[in-house]
Amino acid sequence: MSKENGLPAARLRGSPQCIMLYVQGSGEYDELISAEPPIVNVASVPQRSPFRYAGGKTWLVPRVREWLSSISRPAELIEPFAGGGIISLSSVFDDLVESACLVELDPDVASVWSTIINGNGNRLAEDILRFDLTAESVDRILNSCANTEYERAFSTIVRNRVNRGGILAPGVGLMKKGENGKGLLSRWYPETLSNRITAIAKKSDRFRIINGDGLEVLRDNAKRTDAVYFIDPPYTVAGRRLYLHSAIDHSRLFDIASSLAGDFLITYDDSPQIAYLARKAGLQTKTVPMKNTHHSRKLELLIGRNLGWVRD
Ligand SMILES: C[S@@+](CC[C@H](N)C(=O)[O-])C[C@H]1O[C@@H](n2cnc3c(N)ncnc32)[C@H](O)[C@@H]1O
Repeated sequence: MSKENGLPAARLRGSPQCIMLYVQGSGEYDELISAEPPIVNVASVPQRSPFRYAGGKTWLVPRVREWLSSISRPAELIEPFAGGGIISLSSVFDDLVESACLVELDPDVASVWSTIINGNGNRLAEDILRFDLTAESVDRILNSCANTEYERAFSTIVRNRVNRGGILAPGVGLMKKGENGKGLLSRWYPETLSNRITAIAKKSDRFRIINGDGLEVLRDNAKRTDAVYFIDPPYTVAGRRLYLHSAIDHSRLFDIASSLAGDFLITYDDSPQIAYLARKAGLQTKTVPMKNTHHSRKLELLIGRNLGWVRD
């Protein structure tokens, strides 16, 4: 069987409402039905992350609230692919979990979390307010070598604001025109950013950050009954151009997830191969609609042991 990133080779047939999937070697077609529940309204979701994050899950916050409200309050929510961390932030701020653990492999992204959580949040918030963002100051920050974790964090925040789409993968250029022709300044909201960082720093005793491999952290915590997991790995198709690290063994991820004692919610792009892996692991799947940054409608896949809490 040909495999890339642990994904089996597959063939599709059928209509958009009823898609049949043949996975090489499985000997049968599997039925994947696309449900059509309404798109979640994100207007009620406070934006708490200091990042603008490609693949960010703000739109999923109401669904995660439903999930966490349906189980007994966990001591810790572990987010093994944290990125912009909106689910961890919202869950702690909404007091649905006691604490959250963000795990992120990209050292630049992790440096921002570590700076905010481990005592330098207020300094970062003040420096953001003081920073005069111009083409020259951006050039200086992005081309100077960050010698400390703090400098790395500051430079990452600036890069995330001025790069096209907020993308932090290598090789992505600066945005050109930006919003309303405001260029580099169009995504620089120093007060908003500073307030978000200060708010997280105030609750820093309820967060921890691990700069490491999410799969290892899942494995290390697998026996815990007081932890739950929100798992949002780099997607099978888009991940490569969005993140520094995007290669995941998806099959291994499903093996580890199935072994977790605590409850979990996995999200993926609506890929038939992923749906197949989920079913093979004995997990439930549900497609839910969302709008991406270009406002086009897209289906995403929710995966868990019991998705009875998902409202249509
Ligand atoms: C889909 S994004 C997560 C987005 C996040 N849920 C949000 O709302 O912003 C996936 C993240 O996983 C990170 N990542 C990739 N491989 C990883 C690994 N093995 N361990 C931990 N993080 C990883 C990427 O750098 C990226 O930030």
